[in-house]
Amino acid sequence: MSIQLFVPKFRVDECLNEVKECLEKGWTGLGYKTVEIEEEWKKYTGLEHAHFISSATAGLHLALYVLRKRYGWSDGDEVISTSLTFVSTNHAIKYCNLMPVFADVDDHLCLDPIDVEKKIGANTRAIIFVGIAGNTGQFNKIVELCRKHNLKLVLDAAHMAGTRLEGKHVGPGADATVFSFQAVKNLPTADSGMICFAEREDDEVVRKLTWLGINKDTFSRTVGKGAYKWKYDVEDIGFKYHGNSIMASLALVGLKYLDNDNAYRRQLASWYRHGLASVSGVDLIPIAPDCESSTHLFQILVEERDRVIMALNDHEIYPGVHYTDNTVYEMYSYDGCENSRSRSFSDKLLSLPMHLGVTKKDVDSIVEVVGMYGNK
Ligand SMILES: Cc1ncc(COP(=O)(O)O)c(C=O)c1O
Repeated sequence: MSIQLFVPKFRVDECLNEVKECLEKGWTGLGYKTVEIEEEWKKYTGLEHAHFISSATAGLHLALYVLRKRYGWSDGDEVISTSLTFVSTNHAIKYCNLMPVFADVDDHLCLDPIDVEKKIGANTRAIIFVGIAGNTGQFNKIVELCRKHNLKLVLDAAHMAGTRLEGKHVGPGADATVFSFQAVKNLPTADSGMICFAEREDDEVVRKLTWLGINKDTFSRTVGKGAYKWKYDVEDIGFKYHGNSIMASLALVGLKYLDNDNAYRRQLASWYRHGLASVSGVDLIPIAPDCESSTHLFQILVEERDRVIMALNDHEIYPGVHYTDNTVYEMYSYDGCENSRSRSFSDKLLSLPMHLGVTKKDVDSIVEVVGMYGNK
């Protein structure tokens, strides 16, 4: 039996029951279950605002769009980011005609506050912090830097559903936090996510923006009475980025299991760590102190990564790579980072299978193959 990198687990009967309700009610779009998941997410995270959206990519775009508009940033203003991320993070900066400036990463593979501070200049407006794999890295230091230099902070929490820092769900400290509930994330749907602004005003703005700038959604126009229910205004050129009730149904079921599922992921990570601790040529990524990581990924750094991948594939084990340093790509090659840690990590990173179907026996076989290779 092959061991894949990701296999999402859906509680099928419960999901079907939720979806059935939508179909029977004749309401699959914005509203109804999307309202329910927003309420449940707020309860779960303790965050004050939450808006259910079509993806984290859309959410990152919206976060910068809203902040840019509110604070009057100009074209070409700079946002400090990491190049060791999925391209969505940096595309979002570009969507807003802002400029990604790359700072290097620390041992957690998250932004290094020392390098970030060096990159802050007159045109810096914001920082995007990516909690890669669910790790909080030195997030609190980045929050301090933002306060000191009067910068806005966006947390790309695509990997962080269920991550807690100092006992609290991540989000506090950021102006906007964006979660992904994409098909293989810890809270899988097919495609959806959540954007959580710190400020009520931003939350109100984003709700209109995700529905084309229209100031009254169809759900609120459907519920209740009134001769002018059909009437709305268009306050902005918004986007079609809101979530829908089918995705929300899947998220509502997944949320009930998220903490248990993440606990199992941490168990897998601890088996991997134990097994790989003494393997030469393999470096483990430290989890930040006080971080209870969602453990979306289990990443290692390994020399001659491609040969290790082939060896694993020979045993029907299929790992992945998160991520190629974005400055390797044409779109981001302007910021030559050849000597950065991000670039050198990017050549060695390997993500080992991490999902609820992986067993202790699987971990042992994976460790054995990596170990055989590493000890050669
Ligand atoms: C770090 C990071 N940010 C953003 C995204 C985008 O998420 P979505 O697929 O929900 O748009 C991803 C998706 O893999 C990601 O890994």
